[in-house]
Order: sequence, then C-alpha cells, then structure tokens
Amino acid sequence: MAPLNFHNKVAVVTGAGGGLGRGYALLLGSRGAKVVVNDLGGDTKGEGKSSRAADTVVEEIRSTGGTAVANYDSVEDGEKIIQTALDNFGHIDILVNNAGILRDRSLPRTSNTDWDLVHRVHLRGSFLMTRAAFPMMKKQGYGRIIMTTSTAGIFGNFGQANYSAAKLGLLGLSNTVAIEGRKYNINCNTVAPFGGTRMTQGIMPPDMLEELKPEFVAPVVSWLCHEDCHDTGGLYVTGGGWVSKFRWENTTGVMCRESRVSAMTPETVRDNWDKICDFTNSEHLESNEETTGSILEVLNNLKDSPGTELQHTHSAASTSPSTTGPLSALGVSIGPTDFTYTRKDVVLYALGVGVSTQDEDGLRFLYENSEDFCPLPTFTVIASQAAMMGGELWSKMSNWSPDLTKLLHGEMYIENLAPIPPAATLATTTTVSDVLDKGSGSVLILDTVTRGEDGTDVSRGQWSLFLVGEGNFGGPRSSKVAMPLADPPNRPPDATKELTTGIDQAALYRLSGDYNPLHIDPSFAAMGGFSQPILHGLCFYGVTARAVLATYCDGQPSKFKAMKARFAKPVLPGQTLVIAMWKEGSRIHFTTTVKETGKACLTGGYVDITEDAGAKDMAAGGKGVAVAGSEVFREMAGRLAGDSSVAAKVNAIIQWNVMKGDNTADQWTVDLKGGAAADPVYMGPPQGGRRPDLTLTLAEENLVALVAGSLKPQAAFLSGQLKLAGNMAVAQRLQLLMPPHPRM
Ligand code: NAI
Repeated sequence: MAPLNFHNKVAVVTGAGGGLGRGYALLLGSRGAKVVVNDLGGDTKGEGKSSRAADTVVEEIRSTGGTAVANYDSVEDGEKIIQTALDNFGHIDILVNNAGILRDRSLPRTSNTDWDLVHRVHLRGSFLMTRAAFPMMKKQGYGRIIMTTSTAGIFGNFGQANYSAAKLGLLGLSNTVAIEGRKYNINCNTVAPFGGTRMTQGIMPPDMLEELKPEFVAPVVSWLCHEDCHDTGGLYVTGGGWVSKFRWENTTGVMCRESRVSAMTPETVRDNWDKICDFTNSEHLESNEETTGSILEVLNNLKDSPGTELQHTHSAASTSPSTTGPLSALGVSIGPTDFTYTRKDVVLYALGVGVSTQDEDGLRFLYENSEDFCPLPTFTVIASQAAMMGGELWSKMSNWSPDLTKLLHGEMYIENLAPIPPAATLATTTTVSDVLDKGSGSVLILDTVTRGEDGTDVSRGQWSLFLVGEGNFGGPRSSKVAMPLADPPNRPPDATKELTTGIDQAALYRLSGDYNPLHIDPSFAAMGGFSQPILHGLCFYGVTARAVLATYCDGQPSKFKAMKARFAKPVLPGQTLVIAMWKEGSRIHFTTTVKETGKACLTGGYVDITEDAGAKDMAAGGKGVAVAGSEVFREMAGRLAGDSSVAAKVNAIIQWNVMKGDNTADQWTVDLKGGAAADPVYMGPPQGGRRPDLTLTLAEENLVALVAGSLKPQAAFLSGQLKLAGNMAVAQRLQLLMPPHPRM
C-alpha cells in the first residue's frame, strides 16, 4: 500500500513548539502537510511567553523541504490561530488540540487560579480552537480534529484535580464534536498519550523518557488525521509505540423498582449492590442513545403492578436463553425446511377448507387447468406447518421436554409477501421468538419465514402454541413481539356469511399434512375429552378466510394480505360457521361463530386487504382512526420527502399500532432501513418480509398529540400512554420524524 501523505492538507497543531506537539508537527510536515506551528512559548505552568519554540520547529520543517508558519498566540485566542492558517494557506483540514500546562496541587491547596488557568488552556482553549475551525471544515465537507486527554483524566491522579477534570472534559467535548461533525465528514478523536517531554521530566527516569519519545505517539495522531481513517468518537491510549483503544463498560444493572407503582428505597439498592456492581456479562454501550435506550427498555419491561420477583436487567440478560425449562426454547431456530408441493396439493388443501366446484370462484382453486389457477391465500400455513411437524424444533430444546399431547394451537398469523406459486419447493425458517408464562401453561411464539425457490420471501407467519401445565416458570406474561389481536367494532357486522363444513371435512383436511389422530380417531378424541374427532383449527381458519376473500377481495388472493385470529373453541365436522365481518379501512375484522352452539370459535380476528381496497375508503373520507392516523402519516411522508437525510439518520423500520380502546385500529409502517424507499410510509405492517426494529403502540389521540408536540414522547412512555417494543435506541431517533418539539 502507498505511504500515507498529507499533500494539499493544512494542519494546525497547538503547543507544537516542543514535546508531543512538535513531534506531530514534524511528522505531518514531513508527509506534505502545510503546518501552522502554534506555541505560546511559556513554561509548564503557563507563565511567560516566547516566539522561539514555534520558530525553531518551523525552521526544522522548512529545513527538510516542508511548509510551515509560526503562530505565537495563546489557544485562548483560538480564532487568531485559525486565521493564521486561512491567511497563509486558504483553508484548514486538520486541527490537533495539544497545548497544555500543569499546575499540580492536592485538592485543598488548589487555588482558583490553578483551577481556572488549567481549564482555560486545556478545555476552553480546545473549545475555542475547534469552534473557530469547524465552519471552514463544515463548508468544505472535510475535517480531522484531535483532542488530547490523559489517563489522569480517565482515572484521576493525586494532585491533579484541575488537570484531570479538564482532561476528561476534553473527551466529552470530543464525543460531541464527533456527533455534530459526522454528517460533514469531520472526524474527532481523542488521544491519551504517554510522552517523554518536559511535562514528564523529573517524573519519569531518563531512560524511560527516551523510550517514550514523541516519535512513538506522532504516527497514531497522524493516522487519525488522515483522510483514509474514518473512525470518529474514539479514545486511544498510546505511548512508546503501543497503541490501544479505550471504551466504557457497563454492568447489566438491576431494576430496583418492583413495578411502575412501587417506591424505590435505599434498602433495595443496598440489597442489590453486589449485582449492580457485577461486571459479568457487562456491556460496552457506545452512545447516549444506547444507554438511554437500555433504560427505556427496562422501564418498558416494568410490570404495571407488584407481584412476582424483580426484573433485573435489560436486553443482554433478559433475552439470553435460560438453560432449562420453557425459557430454554427462546431463540431456538430450525430450517430452512423444504416443503415441496404440486398442483394436486393445492387442490387438496382447497377441498380441505371446503371450496366447492359450485362456488363462484371454486375452479380457480380446484381445477389445475383453469386459467387463473392458484393456491388459496392461507395455503402457506401448510408450508410452515410442515417445518414444525418434523420434530426437529422440539429435539433442539435440549433442556425441556414438554408433553406434546397437551399442545394447543392458540393463535395464528399469516402474511403473504408475494404470490404463492401453484407448485414449488418452499423453504421455511422457524424461530421461537418469545416464551410466555400464563400460569396454567406456557405459550411459545414461533415466527416463520417462508421463501420461494428464487429466495424471495413468499410469506411469514406467527404461531402461538399453548402448552398446558408448563407454566409458572417465572417468565413474562405478555409479549412484545406477538402480533396483536383486534376486537371488532362495536356495531352490527357489515357483512355475514355462513359456510357449512362437511361431515368428512377433517378427514379431508388432514391429508394436507396434519395427521394428529385427534381429528380422525374417535378413541383418541375421547382421551382428549371430546365426544368425537374435532376439526383442525387451521381448517376453520381457512374456511373463514374464504368468507373474507369472497366478500371483500372479489375472490382474488392477491388482495388478501394478512390474517390473524385466536382459536377460541373447537368445531365439529359438519357444523356451520357464521362469519361476521366489519370493514375498517383496509382491515376486515371478523368473528367466527358455530351456528349450532352460538359459541365463537375464532375471536380477535382480522384480515388485512391490499392498500388499494383500503385507500378507496380513505379517499372517501374513511372512518374514525384510519383517517386521523393517515393525516399524521401523510404529513410525515411529506416531510421525509423534503429531507432525504432523515431516512439515513433513522435507518430503521418503525411500526405504529394505533389503538382504539383495547383494539388495534390501524397499523402503519415507516420503513427507512437502508435509506428511504420510494414510498417509505404505508399502511399495515412492514412489507417484503421485513421486521420492525421498533414497534410503537398508542391511542390515536396520543399519536396526534405526540406529533403535534403537545405530548412529549418520554412522558407518554413513562405514563404508559406509549408502549415501545424492539430496539430502544431507535426510539431516540423518533424525534427526527416529527415536527420540532422537545427532544425525547
Ligand atoms: P509540553 O509542555 O512539552 O508541551 C506543551 C506545549 O504547549 C508547550 O510547548 C507549551 O508552550 C504549549 N502551551 C502551553 N500553553 C499554551 C497556550 N495557552 N497556547 C499555546 N501553547 C501553549 O507537554 P507535552 O508532554 O508535550 O504535552 C502535550 C499534551 O499532551 C498536553 O495537552 C498534555 O496535557 C498531554 N499529555 C501529555 C502526557 C505526557 O506523558 N507527556 C500525558 C498525558 C497527556
């Protein structure tokens, strides 16, 4: 690789008349930089002044063919020093804040002057220099800035209260300059050097001073100042040729409040002290946002009322799999599992959920030669089910063997992301994304992603499986990742459809892959307490889907996007299903009831249909929540279109669940991952198999107040008006999506 050079670069090095600064100036000058050698020329205590130090170094640079000018101002006159660079070379690319003095005294003996002088040179001087250089760097879209701290600042040092405070202040200054400079390609890093200089003379033995020559630190500073070095906001400890990077470390921490309404006492802190200070599994948080995000995450997990034991930690510990019991299932993943099907399987499934040749669109799903032959939109449950039937999932849970005869299918969500081929091999990946403790049992939330042969996502699904008798293991009661149910509006249904199942419906449906004898063998059903074999839950789920498809999608699977429901009661083959439907924007709520018993078998259900169908309603004035919500998001979309930098800064997928009472009335996605797409704001959950990085759940009125600025996000969160799930660091960037109001 070519040697590093600084041709056409202008560097200002403060305190460059001697010591480390001289080393930096000589190396930069020898590699082609035009250097402003600044030095006040006083003693180590900051007393006196002289031009000799700076002049000598300028001569040294010039004598080897380099370009340099001297400046004798104090860094307290930062603007004058930067002006020297502009006057002589026209611009400034590199600023090394190095000048420093010492006025060491033990704390009781440190005078105000000792304190002030040290702060004025180190901290205030670096601030003034940087503030003066920043506008030019911003204008040219390039800058490299160095701050100089000390291990005395990082750890403290006897007799250096003034110096250590100013030095650690420089690290804070550097970190903020790095943040503010990032978008202008202005990098700011900090070095904590060890150098054999007049400052350390007398403190270190002579041979050690030789080993710690400035020449062994200058290459680190030069590299950080080079255009090929893209690091910013870093802290490097270096001396004698040794270079290291330094970072902060956080214990996983302890939540010392039992619930949102519990008081916090000094005794709780005392009793948890060992855990609070335990660095096992420590984390290296790299930003303010990450730290705040971690705290927000802990708060989000805080229970509403006291009850069980304290929740200890945030992400690291709360998501790391437990080694035994139901929690050991968390994160278990299998696949991709292949599922090959032909047109015959597609027809068999359609027959299994009761499609008839007599139906208006029946042949589309039953006759493989029909022009528009395709699978029903719920067919992908068969592919993801195949992944689960194999037993691999359960065998991977090495420390937990639940009784699978007590497994009930609790809820089902599917979402189609691309047309389902009429015949193909689909590959499904299945992951246990959450494990809940419901007392009487545990709930496993399984997320599936099903891909087509060309690698595109065809569908995703979420299975909620209830394992009777596997509860009370101290796990969470509710899930942040579960797709929510949605109760229907409080009005008579907009449409109702009755569909009668066949007496052999289960016998037919099982041929699509669920061979559980519960659905065919009377004696097995009797063991489970049923008078006869019962219908598969996914069978009457599919029957219900047909009703919505026919009523709101013109029978076209392409208009059927997603479906969610809870299995509430069993259905017997031959019974009639009454599907009550309500249209709210692009969401069709439904409840499926068994006509013979009057009992609901599917509750909290909804089908999301394509945006076009929903958009008609919106354009016509729409209804309730959808309209007010859409205005907020339309406005947001407008602002995003007007400022393309916001997408890059947010760089995340944010899902908004807008609530009406206890029901999810609307979902919106703001997809800014990897830069803004053509249409980053749209109704419904994230498309194309993408998952939200952050999910916000809030009532519509709170959404409006939030965006209007009358409700502060943090207050909304702490009062429970805003629920956050996912990556809390993303929550810090929400502000960018909203009109200006106080920062979260
Ligand atoms: P040094 O005393 O050899 O060099 C400091 C230079 O800054 C001197 O030439 C001095 O004239 C100049 N200076 C002082 N006040 C100034 C002002 N108001 N305006 C312009 N120039 C001024 O010290 P050394 O060791 O080279 O230190 C350089 C930097 O590295 C300092 O910030 C120091 O705190 C820091 N540092 C040094 C360590 C070491 O082992 N030498 C350890 C940790 C930090």
